[in-house]
Amino acid sequence: MKLAFIGGTGPEGLGLAVRFAAAGEEVIIGSRSAERAQEAAAKIVALVPTARVSGAENPDAARQGEVVFITVPFEGQRDILLALREAIGAKLVVDTVVPLAFEKGRARALSVAEGSATQQAQALLPQALVTGAFHNLSAQKLMRVDEDLGSDVIVVGDDPEARRRVMALAGRLKGVRGIDGGPLVNARYVEELTALILNINRTYKVQAGIKLTGI
Ligand SMILES: NC(=O)c1ccc[n+]([C@@H]2O[C@H](COP(=O)([O-])OP(=O)(O)OC[C@H]3O[C@@H](n4cnc5c(N)ncnc54)[C@H](OP(=O)(O)O)[C@@H]3O)[C@@H](O)[C@H]2O)c1
Repeated sequence: MKLAFIGGTGPEGLGLAVRFAAAGEEVIIGSRSAERAQEAAAKIVALVPTARVSGAENPDAARQGEVVFITVPFEGQRDILLALREAIGAKLVVDTVVPLAFEKGRARALSVAEGSATQQAQALLPQALVTGAFHNLSAQKLMRVDEDLGSDVIVVGDDPEARRRVMALAGRLKGVRGIDGGPLVNARYVEELTALILNINRTYKVQAGIKLTGI
């Protein structure tokens, strides 16, 4: 499976790409700059010598990927998705974007007119099968590629088959269980939980994840 990471030069996209490369998936790092994309691809090879990885400008990455991950800051999501609408078409999209602001080092969830970043993505990409996932996984932890992540990944999306595919992908990562989070209307709860986790991380000086019991 070819997985493209739009904005994959940042910690979250790079961290997810490293983990998927280690799991044997082919990854394409997307960037606004082909050079930065190639530098990021080289970082993945340094960590995972067997990685099948390449770097490309975002539109190329979106065209090549069978699944397209959105790993840009919320502030950049609207413009980049409008620009990539054609390249993404009806593909499966995994939005990891969390609308956040920081004040005195404390994270706060931003309100989004569409309800959540993932719902905004679906509104901007009406043909695509948009899901939201991986919001609660720390990029720092992802980069420690041998470490068991020991976390659940809640997957939201309006198409049950799309959710199942993303849960299966999540399950490819070491120590990760995909959890069905239901339709896109639930995305805001998963995104907002990230603000709480970041503030807990600050208190305990850790990179905490989430694990649901009883499932
Ligand atoms: N960091 C985490 O631990 C974490 C965890 C869970 C979820 N997330 C979410 O994942 C997303 C990415 O996080 P991150 O920490 O990797 O973010 P980031 O480093 O701020 O940005 C990621 C990449 O996005 C591109 N980018 C930046 N501004 C852009 C814009 N205005 N338009 C288009 N592209 C832009 C840049 O790539 P180029 O300059 O190469 O184009 C950048 O390297 C965020 O929405 C975040 O909320 C992060």
